[in-house]
Amino acid sequence: MTTPDIPVPDLTGKLAVVTGASDGVGLALAARLAGAGAEVVMPVRNPRKGEAALAKIRREHPGAEVSLRDLDLSSLASVAALADRLTEEGRPIHLLVNNAGVMTPPERQTTKDGFELQFGTNHLGHFALVGRLLPLLRAGRARITSQISVAAGRHAINWATSSGNAGTTATGPTASRRSRSACSASNSTAAAGTAGGASRAISPIPG
Ligand SMILES: NC(=O)c1ccc[n+]([C@@H]2O[C@H](COP(=O)([O-])OP(=O)(O)OC[C@H]3O[C@@H](n4cnc5c(N)ncnc54)[C@H](OP(=O)(O)O)[C@@H]3O)[C@@H](O)[C@H]2O)c1
Repeated sequence: MTTPDIPVPDLTGKLAVVTGASDGVGLALAARLAGAGAEVVMPVRNPRKGEAALAKIRREHPGAEVSLRDLDLSSLASVAALADRLTEEGRPIHLLVNNAGVMTPPERQTTKDGFELQFGTNHLGHFALVGRLLPLLRAGRARITSQISVAAGRHAINWATSSGNAGTTATGPTASRRSRSACSASNSTAAAGTAGGASRAISPIPG
């Protein structure tokens, strides 16, 4: 199977931020953007994998402007720290790809802040990141792309059971415990059927 070469315009002078660029789709996206001339910031949670990803991109695209930052999307404090750092750097962001994510952990886990891990990492972490980066995103009239699964359109969050057990009262910031099994089934189907996620552009942000 050949990888389709998606046309990308010249991105010289643009700053792109790609989450989850230490592996998989994010790494391929970061490499493609860097190859098109963008400077690419890669916030990662695993510096060793991050360094390997940087080396791979530089091998493919000598002279690529790529760099790492720290980010653990399962910690809102880490999200805030990244946003603070980028804000201190003060450069408008032109592209933000919300790509990092975990998919159907086999056991229920939670983020540092007590949310169900997949919901907290993939959705809430990125939601917080976008919110905190809004001034830089507005300054760059950024395009924001969020990587999702085709499974996302097949189910809704059952807020009535968001505490975990039907009939109990929510005592903390948790997403549904029951949803994991339903999500697992649908995501497995999606992964098997499509071999990939879907990207949905949700801005340009109005200036
Ligand atoms: N591949 C598919 O079939 C498929 C289908 C539907 C949706 N998706 C979605 O598409 C996106 C990319 O998928 P993929 O197959 O490329 O996944 P992948 O190869 O597993 O890569 C996921 C990336 O997200 C990073 N990540 C995970 N948790 C993180 C956290 N707490 N903080 C920061 N980074 C974190 C990983 O970092 P580490 O290197 O440290 O692990 C890795 O770089 C994901 O959001 C996934 O849910 C994929």
